[in-house]
Amino acid sequence: MTHCLQSVVEYMAFQQFSLIPAHVAVIMDGNGRWAQKKNRPRVFGHRNGARRVRELVEAAGESHVKYLTLYAFSEENWNRPQDEVNALFKLLSQYLKSEIDHLHRNNVRLRGIGDRTKIPKSCLTLLEQGESKTVLNDGLQLTLALSYSARSDMVSALKHIAQKVRSGEIDEGDICESMIANELSTRELPNPDLLIRTSGEQRLSNFLLWELSYSELYFTEKHWPDFCRKDFDLALASYARRDRRFGTVAKNELSTSPELVQGST
Ligand code: IPE
Ligand code: IPE
Ligand code: MG
Repeated sequence: MTHCLQSVVEYMAFQQFSLIPAHVAVIMDGNGRWAQKKNRPRVFGHRNGARRVRELVEAAGESHVKYLTLYAFSEENWNRPQDEVNALFKLLSQYLKSEIDHLHRNNVRLRGIGDRTKIPKSCLTLLEQGESKTVLNDGLQLTLALSYSARSDMVSALKHIAQKVRSGEIDEGDICESMIANELSTRELPNPDLLIRTSGEQRLSNFLLWELSYSELYFTEKHWPDFCRKDFDLALASYARRDRRFGTVAKNELSTSPELVQGST
């Protein structure tokens, strides 16, 4: 293959690749309604929802998504009936127990974000074991948001920055966007390119509020326990059709509009 042809092929591969979001965040919603429709208790929905997670992790890896962040339990979810909270953490522990080796074998790195002081000890131990076992894995970067609140995360970040200003370590004028981003629990992750929320609700529910500033949003009516590989592919296909302008003008307008490129009037 000639050098020129090779670079065209590489360029096309790159174009192809940039249509795939590097980071997908998912609000896995609708377990309760799914169960209700079947006249079953909410926990039946949670159990079936938990079963879907392995499929999603595999689908993300196979689609070359590099980061997958899953909203598993919010700070506000502590206000649910105690029985439901207990059942959810039991399922989370079961998930971690049964999946850590599988994740590790597949080169997945596991992280947790959220308020660890509130997570039941048995579940937290499993999470920490999973994190240390997979710490060197450089495949899919899987993050579970547990007892997570974006606002609390921002409050902690701001308190830490305020301390640094008070101690004289930094100057107030040094505070910038990247400094704030580096104080958030997501500091090791790029911002999500795509947010998927299942079950019809069109809200963020206190998830990654800073990080989602410029993400593409995708909402589907499917309840989480029904969300399968095909649905994930549909979300990726929708993303691939989006024109992410980040406040500027469309890429095709930039290249075809000499006025814009040359800045002439
Ligand atoms: C998502 O399903 C699971 C968690 C929030 C833990 P829900 O339990 O919120 O289900 P719906 O929204 O009530 O149907
Ligand atoms: C968001 O779902 C939290 C998770 C999916 C873990 P919720 O069901 O708790 O959110 P709201 O109550 O509809 O906003
Ligand atoms: Mg819900």
